[in-house]
Order: sequence, then structure tokens, then C-alpha cells
Amino acid sequence: MNTTSRMDLKEVAFIGRTYSEYMDIFGLNEQALLNGPVLDCPAGASSFTAEAKKKGFDVTACDILYDLPAAKLEAMGRQALAIIEQKMEETAHLFNWGYYGDRKRHMGHRAGAFELFMADYPAGRTSGRYICAALPRLPFKDRSFELVLSSHFLFLYGDRFSPMFHAGSLKEMARVCRNEVRVYPLLGLNAKPYPHMQQVLDMARRDGMRAEIRATRFEFFKGADKLLILNPAKYNAGEKE
Ligand SMILES: C[S@@+](CC[C@H](N)C(=O)[O-])C[C@H]1O[C@@H](n2cnc3c(N)ncnc32)[C@H](O)[C@@H]1O
Repeated sequence: MNTTSRMDLKEVAFIGRTYSEYMDIFGLNEQALLNGPVLDCPAGASSFTAEAKKKGFDVTACDILYDLPAAKLEAMGRQALAIIEQKMEETAHLFNWGYYGDRKRHMGHRAGAFELFMADYPAGRTSGRYICAALPRLPFKDRSFELVLSSHFLFLYGDRFSPMFHAGSLKEMARVCRNEVRVYPLLGLNAKPYPHMQQVLDMARRDGMRAEIRATRFEFFKGADKLLILNPAKYNAGEKE
């Protein structure tokens, strides 16, 4: 039996999840998407934006790699899918398989998201739906989005980004947000809770944000059953607690 206790990824993987996975991860219903523009940050090869647009929602995706042409992202995405497939095999015991059924179906979601993303990216990039952005900075005006969703980047890769990077990224997401920033998961690739969460929460609260950790029913990575929700309203209003 394999006893690897962490998913050992050398680089931040250029992969993505689907619209339905995002809705389940973030505990969203479609009413929440009707309230105003949504930012997916960073979106990677997620099809959330492509699928949401087809449904008529106003969603923008940003990622550090969106300055790259489609052909380059296509090659990176295919490589990432192969790496993830292999790593999933090595670390299958770290996951609950109930949501997807098995590894093959899980990879079907990853591949499906990637295909939908690639089909949408060229035109979406031209029309400004896919924007190049390097956290901890975002190229958007204050309060541009009603909701900011951040999946599988912050905290997950906590071993290579400092607590300052995390706190700075949250503050920046809050700056561009009017209502809520939702972040998932709160674990690292070693399947352990992000060790500097209290420090990051303290920094967010000092910046005037309300920060709450809430349960989510989505728990693929074992133990990844919580979301961070930031309410930046006070921060944006310039009020401090
Ligand atoms: C695992 S993907 C997450 C994709 C998507 N949110 C999801 O859950 O399906 C992580 C993404 O973070 C991006 N990334 C890495 N460093 C970044 C930075 N400093 N600013 C913005 N994006 C970054 C990578 O390019 C990659 O596409």
C-alpha cells in the first residue's frame, strides 16, 4: 500500500474544476451569481467562467498565466493533467472518493473542465473575460466584484508562499470585492491545516475585514471541509473594528 502523506507537486498545477464543482465547493446557488459580477481568482484551467457565461452570469477569470497564448496553455494543461493523474494514483488514500466515484471519473471532471476552458479562452481573452493577474496584486478597481472565489491556490501551496503573501492576496481580493471573498481549501498539499491561519486571520481582521471559517459539505481532500469567508464591507468603507 502506498503511504505517501502529501501530494508532491513541484509547480502550481495549471488545472481546473468545473462549474458544478465550484458550486458545491463554495456552497453557492445560482441566486448568488445573479447578485453581481463574480471573479474567479486564480482560475487556472477552470471551466467555471466559460460555463457561467453560457448560463448568462457575469464572471471574470484571472490567473498569472493568462498572458500566454492558447497553444502554450494547452500544452501546459495537458502536461498538468498527466502529472495530476499520476499523483492521484500515488496519493489515492488522501481523498474521499464518494463525490466522484473513482479516479477515472475524477480525471473526467479535470479533462472536461480543461476542454471547456480551452474552447472559451481565445475569444474570452480578447473580450476581457480572462485577465492576466499576479497575486498579491490585482488589476481591478476597488469593489469591482460582488463575489470573489479563490479555489485551490492560497493555503494549498502554503509551503512555498509566505503568510505575508497569503494575507496580502486576501487583502487585495477584499479590495476588489463588494460582498464576500470565499477561499478553499484551508489545507496544504500535506493534507494538514494551513499552519499560519491564525496569523493570516489576525492580519485580515486588523485590516478591518470580518473573517469566518465555515463548513462545506464538499470534502474530496480528506479534512478539507472548511471555507474561509471574508466580508470586506468594513474594509472597503474604511471602518476599523
Ligand atoms: C490549481 S490552479 C486552481 C484553478 C482553479 N481555481 C480551480 O480550483 O480549479 C492554481 C492556479 O494558480 C495560478 N497562480 C500561481 N501563482 C499565481 C499568482 N501569484 N497569481 C495568480 N495566479 C497564480 C496558477 O497559474 C494556476 O493556474
